[in-house]
Amino acid sequence: MSNIYPIFDQMLSREDKEALLGQRGVMLWFTGLSGSGKSTVAVALERELHRRGRLCRILDGDNIRSGINANLGFSEADRKENIRRIAEVSKLFVDTGIITIAAFISPTEEMRQMAAEIIGRNDFKEIYISTPLEECERRDVKGLYAKARLGEIKNFTGISSPFEAPMNPDLSIDTSAVSLEESVRMLLALLGIE
Ligand code: ADX
Repeated sequence: MSNIYPIFDQMLSREDKEALLGQRGVMLWFTGLSGSGKSTVAVALERELHRRGRLCRILDGDNIRSGINANLGFSEADRKENIRRIAEVSKLFVDTGIITIAAFISPTEEMRQMAAEIIGRNDFKEIYISTPLEECERRDVKGLYAKARLGEIKNFTGISSPFEAPMNPDLSIDTSAVSLEESVRMLLALLGIE
């Protein structure tokens, strides 16, 4: 690190970016089982916020696990590194004044705590997409639960790898009980947006 020369004093601040955008940067950290509806809710929320003139960025498996984290699998250590990198990247977006939405299983309290610490607790909202396992498995959108039950996929969250429900989420949404419109409304209320 000794040959890295910080230029922070010359770079424009987060406040400058937020003033330009007319919004505050915040992290909406979605956690929940595969198939719980994290990405679906994230996309609907982004569309609604965009319609209202707010700049958002979604990070999910499609743009992260196929790119920056393409070298990572689903061992405990790899999931932790997955979440660490996602949190570091998210921090850059939040510090640019962007409403940043991460949609990853992030199965353990330890991983989510790490993400909150990297990003900063004041900017971090934990959203538990609490759709029950039975419903996620019934949906089995990607056919992965069936494969996990047959043992064709190892360490599958909820089947052969643990998921720890958040103890104190800022918001819980069970997509088997709440409509997509209502989910978005709950999130807007959390953000203080009417
Ligand atoms: S995390 O545990 O590291 O946070 P992440 O959200 O990035 O997981 O990826 C989860 C997605 O990867 C699932 O929705 C599913 O499509 C796919 N996947 C592939 N193998 C597994 C596995 N063993 N456990 C969970 N999800 C898996």
